[in-house]
Amino acid sequence: MRSHFITFEGGEGTGKSTQIKILADYLTAQGQDIVTTREPGGVDNAEKIRELLLREVENDWDGVTEVLLHYAARQEHVKKLILPTIKRGGWILCDRFTDSTIAYQGYGSGINEELISFIDQKILNGLRPDLTFIFDLSYEKSVQRLKSRCSSDRYENMNKEYHERLRKGFLNIAQREPDRCIIIDAENEIDLVAKKIRTIINTRMNL
Ligand code: TMP
Repeated sequence: MRSHFITFEGGEGTGKSTQIKILADYLTAQGQDIVTTREPGGVDNAEKIRELLLREVENDWDGVTEVLLHYAARQEHVKKLILPTIKRGGWILCDRFTDSTIAYQGYGSGINEELISFIDQKILNGLRPDLTFIFDLSYEKSVQRLKSRCSSDRYENMNKEYHERLRKGFLNIAQREPDRCIIIDAENEIDLVAKKIRTIINTRMNL
């Protein structure tokens, strides 16, 4: 059976997790072998690193350290969950992957993209998702969604310039790799986005 490695990328509050769940339910109902996962995290050791990275107080990692921690988590995730799933021909629906490091640490925090690519090449050895959905949303809408969720104070920490750099980063990645990346207008209704994603999956994966 052919494996499918699909990632969901974009800024905060764009609705990725909701869409992953809808797609996973749809594919499971079709009898597919589905693994949903996320980064940073996805396996125990990587979830421990996630806790370090996303702790909201005392979080002052140097930018390069942050990249290395994301790749340390990714190494655990790839080795223990992603590669075994690919090997047995399953589907991986992953909330964030390498593109988030390029957008957040590269475009957002100004870490040299060549350094990130170098680390990526050495660690992932060319592993790329088959398909990536990039959820695009304006700063204003993102803030509105995060506020209405009340699940985190992250919106208070998000400044507009940073969001715009991230957004530009994701859009540039999509432009550079149009065969892999599809931009999703995350302002649309949940059902409409789900339908678009399902149509693309059905076409691309010959379901
Ligand atoms: P989320 O799972 O709620 O999207 O949170 C993950 C956070 O981690 C989000 O702010 C994006 C950030 N992140 C990076 O900065 N670099 C990365 O490589 C990854 C995977 C996530």
